[in-house]
Amino acid sequence: MKTIAFIGGGNMAGALIHGLVEDGTDPGRILVAEPDATRREQLAVRFGVRTTEDNTAAAQEAEILVLAVKPQVLPQVAKALAPALAQNQPLCISIAAGIRHAALQAWLGEGVPLVRAMPNTPAMLQSGATGLYAPPPLDEAQREAAEHVLRAVGVVIWVEEESLMDAVTAVSGSGPAYFFLFMEAMEQAAIELGLPAETARLLVRQTALGATRMALESELDLPTLRLGVTSPGGTTERAIHAFEEGGLRRLVHRALEAARDRSQELSRELERS
Ligand SMILES: NC(=O)c1ccc[n+]([C@@H]2O[C@H](COP(=O)([O-])OP(=O)(O)OC[C@H]3O[C@@H](n4cnc5c(N)ncnc54)[C@H](OP(=O)(O)O)[C@@H]3O)[C@@H](O)[C@H]2O)c1
Repeated sequence: MKTIAFIGGGNMAGALIHGLVEDGTDPGRILVAEPDATRREQLAVRFGVRTTEDNTAAAQEAEILVLAVKPQVLPQVAKALAPALAQNQPLCISIAAGIRHAALQAWLGEGVPLVRAMPNTPAMLQSGATGLYAPPPLDEAQREAAEHVLRAVGVVIWVEEESLMDAVTAVSGSGPAYFFLFMEAMEQAAIELGLPAETARLLVRQTALGATRMALESELDLPTLRLGVTSPGGTTERAIHAFEEGGLRRLVHRALEAARDRSQELSRELERS
């Protein structure tokens, strides 16, 4: 079992550690470098992991090093780690949104194996979806090690080109918010149709869960599943017609394109600063 060190012990690191421990990783093989003493104490008590305030010590011991600080502090943190990484050469995994592989590689040092990952917030419930990217020459064992860490909090998908990480950000990174918005709109409409708020809340959320489970677990594609609920001349058909007439598909396309473009802009802004 490899030693996995985290630089930054915040929300996303906490989710990954939770997933790894649930998955059977020995907490004694997890080391977290985090400046906040209270947070260190919480992580040690909750998961039984080892903690330190010394990033370099964590990097020296790590076989896998997860960079889990905010993107704004990553340049400074990464450059300070470079001497330790030059000696130890752990597999580095960055979960920082918007920081491109080449920029991070230059800060960490050219020889260091590096994977870029884009998880999402359902990782907190081990239901995340993570996009991974690494240019060659990452070997199979290193790819498998990166997958192992992120698979602890959900599904992982590799993308072949880094530009696609902006699309991953638009789809799964921001995606939970789109579904929350749709559920909000449904709850509001249900209340306006006369249902008590608590009934609307339960019906909408359970329906979203049920539909998602059907979509994930069924062999049928989405149009077939939709048609299965849509009897000719029935209620669902009327609602679907209203969505299509209102341009729902065009709107979704525009929203995802806007998120993808903003992700590209943010990368440029982070690199300029
Ligand atoms: N949350 C998400 O949905 C999500 C999704 C995808 C990717 N990400 C990425 O995940 C990364 C972490 O996000 P998060 O939401 O977990 O943020 P967070 O909760 O703020 O965690 C960052 C942690 O890093 C610590 N830290 C700050 N400076 C440090 C330093 N010099 N050395 C070591 N640790 C340091 C912070 O401590 P202090 O609080 O004391 O400063 C904090 O505990 C970000 O890069 C973000 O882009 C997050």
